[in-house]
This record gives sequence, C-alpha cells and structure tokens, in this order.
Amino acid sequence: MKRIRNPQSAVCNGVTAIIMAAGKGTRMKSDKSKVLHEVAGKPMLGHVIDACHAAGVKDIVLIAGANYPELKEFTKTAYPSGNIKIVIQKKQIGTAHAISTALKAKLKFDEAILILSGDVPLIEAATIKGAIKEFTTENPGGIILTSKVENPFGYGRIVRDTHGFVESIVEQKDATPEQQEIDHINGGVYIFNRDYLKKYITLIKMNPLKKEYYLTDIAGIMAKNGIKIRPKTVPYAEVAGINDRVQLMEAGKMKNKKTLERFAKDGITIVDFDTVFIDENVSIGTDTVIQPFTVIKGSSRIGKGCNIGPFAHIRPGTVIGDNCRVGNYVEIKKSTLGNNTYVSHLSYIGDAELGSNVNIGAGTITCNFDGFKKHKTIIGDNVFVGSDTKFVAPVKVGKGAVIAAGSVITEDVPADALSVARARQVNKEKWALKRRKK
Ligand code: UD1
Ligand code: CA
Repeated sequence: MKRIRNPQSAVCNGVTAIIMAAGKGTRMKSDKSKVLHEVAGKPMLGHVIDACHAAGVKDIVLIAGANYPELKEFTKTAYPSGNIKIVIQKKQIGTAHAISTALKAKLKFDEAILILSGDVPLIEAATIKGAIKEFTTENPGGIILTSKVENPFGYGRIVRDTHGFVESIVEQKDATPEQQEIDHINGGVYIFNRDYLKKYITLIKMNPLKKEYYLTDIAGIMAKNGIKIRPKTVPYAEVAGINDRVQLMEAGKMKNKKTLERFAKDGITIVDFDTVFIDENVSIGTDTVIQPFTVIKGSSRIGKGCNIGPFAHIRPGTVIGDNCRVGNYVEIKKSTLGNNTYVSHLSYIGDAELGSNVNIGAGTITCNFDGFKKHKTIIGDNVFVGSDTKFVAPVKVGKGAVIAAGSVITEDVPADALSVARARQVNKEKWALKRRKK
C-alpha cells in the first residue's frame, strides 16, 4: 500500500474529502434540501464544510442530487473562494453509488479519502485531524468513526473481529436480533485509502431489501481481503445523524450546549443552559451575564461585564460594548452600542448606532423600515431617551441631548438639546366630576 505524502504537514495535502449530500431526505418532510436545514444557526452542510476547512482539508467534493441548484447556490454564497467541486448523482441509489459517482468524475483524488455525510453535522475539526493523523501514521486500510450509544436504533452497527478491527457493518434493517444488541454505531464518517476504495467499491452488490448500494458493505469486503479497518470511538454528539426534525432539534441542543460550555469556561455566566441559545460565532467578554430565555445570533459581539436578558433577542450584526445592559423583551438587530449603554426594557433597536453612556427608556422603538428600505438611527454619547420614544429613521440625535418621554422623533436633534415631540397635555378641571353627576 502506498504511503500518504507529507504525513506530518499541518495542511493535509494528501486528503480529499467527499461529502455525501444527494439523499432525498424524505424523513424531513421538507421542500428544502435536508442538509441546508439549520443546526444552531448554521446549515448542516456548513458545519461539515467548516470542520473540514478547520482540520486543514481543503479539497472538497460534494455529492448533490436533485438538490444541486440549492447546494450550488449555498456553496457559492457561503464559500465564494472555497475549493468545493460538486458532482451530481442522478439517482439516489445508495451511499456506495454516491461515492462511486464521485470517484468516476474527472477530478483529482488524493491518496487518503475522507468521507463525510452531510447529515452528520457536529463532527469536530480536531476529531477529523486526529483521524487523519492516525491514518497517515498507523497506515490502516481505513478508519471508521464509531460511538457507543444507549439507543443505536436506525444506525449501522459495527461488528468487530477478535482483534478489535472492523469485521463488517450491518444496517438496522439487515441486523439479526443479536447484532441489534450491538451498541457501537457507524458514525457515517470514514477515511479510506483511495486505491482500496476504488477497487473494493466495485464489488458492492445491491442490498436486496432496500434495493440500494450500501457503502457500509465495503467494510466486510475489505476485511475479507485482509485489509485492516480501525474503528475510532468518538463522543455521540459528534456523529449524531439527522434524518428527521426530532433529530434536528436534538442536534441543535447538543451543539448549543457545547457552545455554552465553551463560553462558561471562558468566564461568561450563563444562568440557564436550557433556555439560552447562542450561535457558535458570537463573541462575548468576561463577566458578562446571560440571563435565561436569551437568543444571540450570527457573529454578534458583546463586550465585558454586560447583563443580557432575561428574554433578550440579539440578532445578527450587533456589536455591544462593555458594561452594557440589554434587558427583558429587548430586540437588537444590526446595531452598535457603545460602552455603558442601557436598553433595559421592552425595546426594538434596529439599524442603529448608539454611543456610550446612552440610556434608552422602556418601550423605545427605532422605526427603521419605511415599507421599502431600512434606515439608520444614530444616537450620540450621553443621550437620555425618555420612555416610549419612537425614532422615525433616518434620524440623528446629537451628543448629550434629552428626548422627552413619549416623543415621536422625525427630525434630527442638536447636541445638548431637549426634544419634546408629542401633543401638549390638556387638563380640564372638574370634567370627570361633572360627568359623574349627569
Ligand atoms: C447511513 C449509514 C449507517 C450510519 C448512518 C450514520 C449507509 C448504508 N448507512 O445510514 O450505517 O449509521 O448513515 O448517520 O451508508 N446519500 C447520497 N446518495 C444516496 C444516498 C444517500 O448522497 O444515494 C447521502 C445522504 O444525503 C446522507 C448520507 O448519504 O447525507 C447518508 O445517507 P442516509 O440515507 O441518511 O443514510 P442512513 O440511513 O442515515
Ligand atoms: Ca442519515
């Protein structure tokens, strides 16, 4: 068997990744391609591609089916400079057929082939790296990621020989009652030597029950030919497969928990892991407290010592400075808050720039949308905004200004001015008393 070039190099030049994503995803019952459904704010396929990239695997071949237009659009937008080649598998007749289709395409394949499933999104870059290292140094014919699980139902089961190598993989439908007891599942992530893969994949026969060509059959074929395939055990969260929306939800929670644990270990207090959802690319400074029922999206940035929530919704494009407070029922979208700025209750701040030491009263709303376009609200440092103010954007408020409660601000406010933009109050003496006497 040939050795892989540059086994120690950080960028794995000797590895081509193939991501299988052509399946119909019937169990999702969706008009949208399964692999584009989001897990913790990112399409499943995006998680898989990002993990490859982070592991140093740059050559990626994606197998698409009827979802080709969608997948092409996604990769073009999300990875404009990425080296992602798409191969079309016209008929979805199994994972082995998918891989053969890719191997037959006029593309360059490195000596190690990393196979991933578009619906196994939580695989970690470090695990991929570790598996590649094991493959290049130990030189087995293949590595299959596996996990020991409580409920293996639905997954392929890993049958081992007496030395612990993979003897075969049996799918749920073909497993004998005894094999169904095996709690080590096939994670759907593999590394194979290219030449062995090309040779033995041709020997896979159609599964008589499902009328599909199973890639998993290659394990038994290789083993019979004396090729050693190592099972590599990883945490279940990394190889949890998503076939339906219950698993979609569960995977989202697993991913979220990992993200929250990372924040917690980095010095951020998250009061309740069960009700806080934070996308993985968010950044948060130390000693910030995230209260329950808070959602933080996209690549938003939050400074140190802030208090966010409860019930706060921070949407993409938000940058919050240090020592800020974003309180209950506050939504912030694509806005910047300087240091020590407070938006404490019941507000919508969208497309706005707020300076430092700004106090936004309860119920303040930036009216950013005119029905056609979005407009900006710019509020300078040290501005005090009374409760229930509406800013009809585009509008600017100069530094140090005070806005009277209940104002509808449609024109710019000069620095240090008081702006009152509401009807004057009229008190009619004894009016109520007279009405009662009628
Ligand atoms: C597969 C494995 C199973 C493993 C599980 C891990 C096989 C036969 N079984 O089962 O052992 O435990 O994954 O999650 O491989 N696909 C194509 N073309 C096809 C068929 C599928 O590209 O013709 C793609 C799908 O889009 C999907 C992946 O391959 O991303 C896996 O296919 P799926 O049908 O979901 O296989 P499972 O039944 O989950
Ligand atoms: Ca699957």
